[in-house]
Amino acid sequence: MKTIKIGMIGFGAVGSGVVNLFNNMTREIFERVGLSVELVKIAVRNKGKKRSQVFDKNKITEDAFSIVTDPEIDIVVEVMGGEEPAMALILKAISQGKHVVTANKHLLAMRGEEVYSAVESGEVELGFEAAVAGAIPIVRAIRSAFAGDRIDMIQGIVNGTGNYILSRMTSEGKPFNEILKDAQSLGYAESDPAFDIEGIDSAHKVAIMAALAFGTSVNFGSVFIEGITSITPDDISMAREFGLKIKLLATAKRCEGGIEARVHPAMIPQSHFLASVNGAYNAIEIICDNAAKNVLIGPGAGSGPTASAIAGDVIDIACKIARGGAGKTPPMLIPLELRSETKVKAISDMVFEYYLRFTVPDRPGILAKLAGALGEKGISIASMIQRGRQENEPVSVVLTTHSAAEADLDMALEQLKDTDICLAPVTKIRIQKDA
Ligand code: NDP
Ligand code: HSE
Repeated sequence: MKTIKIGMIGFGAVGSGVVNLFNNMTREIFERVGLSVELVKIAVRNKGKKRSQVFDKNKITEDAFSIVTDPEIDIVVEVMGGEEPAMALILKAISQGKHVVTANKHLLAMRGEEVYSAVESGEVELGFEAAVAGAIPIVRAIRSAFAGDRIDMIQGIVNGTGNYILSRMTSEGKPFNEILKDAQSLGYAESDPAFDIEGIDSAHKVAIMAALAFGTSVNFGSVFIEGITSITPDDISMAREFGLKIKLLATAKRCEGGIEARVHPAMIPQSHFLASVNGAYNAIEIICDNAAKNVLIGPGAGSGPTASAIAGDVIDIACKIARGGAGKTPPMLIPLELRSETKVKAISDMVFEYYLRFTVPDRPGILAKLAGALGEKGISIASMIQRGRQENEPVSVVLTTHSAAEADLDMALEQLKDTDICLAPVTKIRIQKDA
């Protein structure tokens, strides 16, 4: 009886979870597939490194290409991350007729089209559930559960590290950097954590989800990205006073003339379900024409949850190998040649309500100047609060606006920049009361 053989590239946070899962689930996997599925080889950067999981040292190599060219291996699991050499390894594996499972959202967002095209022409399977929102089965939901419907919007929290940081800043008031260190030690963060806190990782996931849900390629450069690094405990407590909470939101949405694809912090009502999704949990709302609103919530990062998504893909492909049909699934739901190109709307063409925090000198006439600059661009102020007062010290002035066009607001802020009114960059956070 054939054994389905897996070769894995990477034995870090995610790879360790996969080894642990395969060590503990041998019997269940055999029952589900009907054949043995065995992890036969792992490639790492440094063989001498101590590993958290037991795996035969003789089956560990520093030559990742020996995995993708090994004629015995049926499925390659790529959990090393980054663009290169991951891309070269995946393309080589496909050219050798191997099926691929990857958690690499960075690679798929930047160079997915090359991968999908190679997968289609090589007639192999591609699993990438782990690339979007950890354990949450969002890829499967789009690719099969909602394949009979039209998805109009996908919105949610898709970065565990960012959500973990914002949640603890909100509940404990601890400084940003201290919490980031905890997220790194828990295995949530990317090898370059700037990807998490600058919103780039969420944007990778938005690009993948939008491409899959809307049947289009998405140029990563057209996704609007803003991270959480400028959010302060003061912004969090002001949001609380307004009955709002700050979350890093990722949105992919159909709109007039194209789609929206954006990532930015947003103030949402405390009563919204996303406001109570905390820690490294992710949550995604999917709005469909027929199925209406559906919500998926689960752990969005970390060793075990991500390994679960990887194993689900491996078992799915192994079942196709065992029963027939492997290599027939278009990775992006519809064959690439049937997709149409869709324009991504610029953020400057969108309309939001805003929270604005200015750092200004405490002297007469300043508030009038702020209001004047906004008013000139037709932006109407909803509320205004001045915080703290110490002689000769700048003060924080917080304004919220009614709905305004982003382009108009940016013009008003540009006019105020570099004047003696704004003593520090203005913090601008979009308010989404109907998130
Ligand atoms: P880690 O940095 O913990 O692990 C990376 C692994 O890749 C290490 O074992 C490293 O070897 C190995 N590696 C790096 N370069 C090479 C190379 N040239 N040849 C062979 N092996 C190499 O990363 P994670 O496990 O956190 O992430 C892996 C992937 O999963 C990334 O794409 C990430 O975006 C994605 N992901 C991560 C999640 C998480 O929660 N951490 C969740 C979802 C997706 P060595 O150990 O010797 O250094
Ligand atoms: N660094 C990512 C996160 C891992 O924190 O969400 C999961 O994709």
